[in-house]
Amino acid sequence: MAIEEKIKELMQMRERARLGGGEKRIASQHQKGKLTARERIDLLLDEGSFEEFDMFVSHRCIDFGLKGQDYLSDGVVTGYGTIDGRLVYVFSQDFTVFGGSLSEMYAQKICKVMDKAMKVGAPVIGINDSGGARIQEGVKSLGGYADIFQRNIMASGVIPQISAIFGPCAGGAVYSPALTDFTIMTKETSYMFVTGPKVVKTVTGEEVTTENLGGASVHTTKSGVAHFAAENEEEGILLIRKILSYLPQNNLEEAPLVPCDDPIDRLEESLNHIVPDNANKPYDVKDVIHAIVDENEFLEVQRYYAPNIITGFARFNGQSVGIVANQPSYLAGVLDINASRKGARFVRFCDAFNIPIVTLVDVPGFLPGTAQEYGGIIIHGAKILFAYGEATVPKVTIILRKAYGGAYDVMSSKHLRGDINYAWPGAEIAVMGPKGAIEVLHAKELSEITDDAEKVKFISEKEEEYRNKFANPYIAAKYGYIDDVIEPRNTRFRVIRALQMLATKKDTNPPKKHSNIPL
Ligand code: HXC
Repeated sequence: MAIEEKIKELMQMRERARLGGGEKRIASQHQKGKLTARERIDLLLDEGSFEEFDMFVSHRCIDFGLKGQDYLSDGVVTGYGTIDGRLVYVFSQDFTVFGGSLSEMYAQKICKVMDKAMKVGAPVIGINDSGGARIQEGVKSLGGYADIFQRNIMASGVIPQISAIFGPCAGGAVYSPALTDFTIMTKETSYMFVTGPKVVKTVTGEEVTTENLGGASVHTTKSGVAHFAAENEEEGILLIRKILSYLPQNNLEEAPLVPCDDPIDRLEESLNHIVPDNANKPYDVKDVIHAIVDENEFLEVQRYYAPNIITGFARFNGQSVGIVANQPSYLAGVLDINASRKGARFVRFCDAFNIPIVTLVDVPGFLPGTAQEYGGIIIHGAKILFAYGEATVPKVTIILRKAYGGAYDVMSSKHLRGDINYAWPGAEIAVMGPKGAIEVLHAKELSEITDDAEKVKFISEKEEEYRNKFANPYIAAKYGYIDDVIEPRNTRFRVIRALQMLATKKDTNPPKKHSNIPL
C-alpha cells in the first residue's frame, strides 16, 4: 500500500472513531439536550489544544454477542489539552457507545491519563455520562472501576480532580466522582445514585423518580454530594474552567497570580454600617465578601448546601484564597452537622493545594438539640476544628460580630494556629451569649424572684452588665488572641497586607503516616 493509501486509511479510522456509536445515537444524544463526548471536550479546552490518546482502542470481550461489535475508542475519549494555556488531562465518557458503559479497556484508557497527570502534575477532569459497568464484561469491568478508584485516591491532594456529571452515573460508578475534589451536575439531564428507583422500590417499597432520587437539586441541597448545579452543559463546562483558574496545577505549586486593577487600599464605607446594632438581626455576609475581594468576584462552592456557612474562592490583589464565612442570614450562622462537614472539606482542600484561607466569623455557637446530638454533631463538629488545626497554609481570620463558645475556638482562632486574627469593633467574644450566661450565672437569684416584671428587669440589667463586660473584642485583644481591632471599611487592605506578610509562611505538622480525622 502506498503511503497515501495508508494515510487515507488512518484518516478513515479517525473518522470512524469520531463517530462513536454512530450518527443515529449522536442524534439521540442531542435530542436529550446533551452534547457528545467530543463536543464537550472541544468546549472545555482551549481551541485546537486537544491531543487524543488511544483513539484506536477497542474492547476484548467476545461474550454476549459483543464479538465483532467494535467501536474505536471504546466509549471514552481521553487525552490532554490546555485551559487558559495551562495543561489538563481529560476523559469524557461517550454514551453513544454501549451507553458509555465501562469496560476493561475503557478503564485502562482512563488510568493512562490519570497516571500521566500524576507524573506531570496537572489536573484531571472527568466527564461522566455512563450506564455503569459494561454488563457483558463482568468482573473485568468491576476491576476497571477499582483501578480508577485507586488512582483517584492516590491523586487526592496531589493534583486537582474535577468531575462533571452530564448524564447517568449510577452504582459503584458514583464513587469515582465522590473521591474527586469538585462535582458539577447539570440540572434535569444528570443523576447520581448507588441504586436506582427500581431497586429502591423492590427493597424499600418507596416510589421515587430519578430526579428526586439523585438529580442535581438533591445532591446540591440535601446530600452535599455535588458542589455545583449548572443550567446546562455549556454552563457546567465554563464553571470547570473558572474553578481551575483559582487552583495550582498540583500540590507543589502555587495558584496563578492574576493581574489586579482593584486598588488594594480601597475603602468600603458600607462595611462600617453593615452589621445591625441589634445583635439578633441578620445581615448577608456575602455582602462583606463581595465588598472586600478583588472586583467583587466570588465563586461560591456548595451554595445551596448548609447555607449557614459560606465557602468559595476569590482573590486578594490577584492571589487566590479560600473564603469560609458564617452566614448570619441563615439559621443565624450557627454551626451544625452539615455546615461543619462542608467547612471542613473546603478548608482541607485549600490546605492541600496551598491556597490561603480567609475566615469571616459571626457565629452564635453550635446548634443545640437531639437531632444534632443523635446525628453526631460532636464528631462532625470536630471535623472543622481538626481541619483548621491541621492546616498549615496562611490563615487570616476576621471576627465580624459574634464568636461564642466552642465556635470561637473552631473558626480559625489564634489557638488553632491562626496567623492573623482581627476583629471588628462590634465583635462579641465570650463563652456564651448574654441570655444563656445570665440564666447560668444567676440561676439561684432568678428562682427567688416571683414577680415576672421584676424578673424581666433583673435579666435585662444583668444582660446589659454582661454585654458591657464581654460583648466586645478588647478582652480577647488584651490577651493577644486578637492581633488588632480594625475599622470595617479598611478590611480589604488589612487582609491583603496580612496575606502579603504571610506569603513565605512555612509551618509543618509532625511526621506521621496520616492523621485520624474524626470521619
Ligand atoms: C452494557 C449498556 C449498559 C451497561 C446501557 N447500555 N447500560 N450496555 N452495559 N451497563 C446500552 C443499552 O443496552 C443500549 O444499547 C445503550 O447502552 C443505550 O442505553 P438505553 O437503555 O437505550 O438508554 P437510556 O434509555 O437513556 O437509559 C440509560 C440507562 C439504562 C438508565 C443508563 O441504559 C440503564 O439502566 N442501564 C443499565 C444501568 C446499570 O444497571 N448498570 C450497571 C450498574 S452496576 P442499544 O444497543 O440498545 O442502544 C455498576 C457497578 C459498578 O455499574 C461497580 C463499580 C464498583
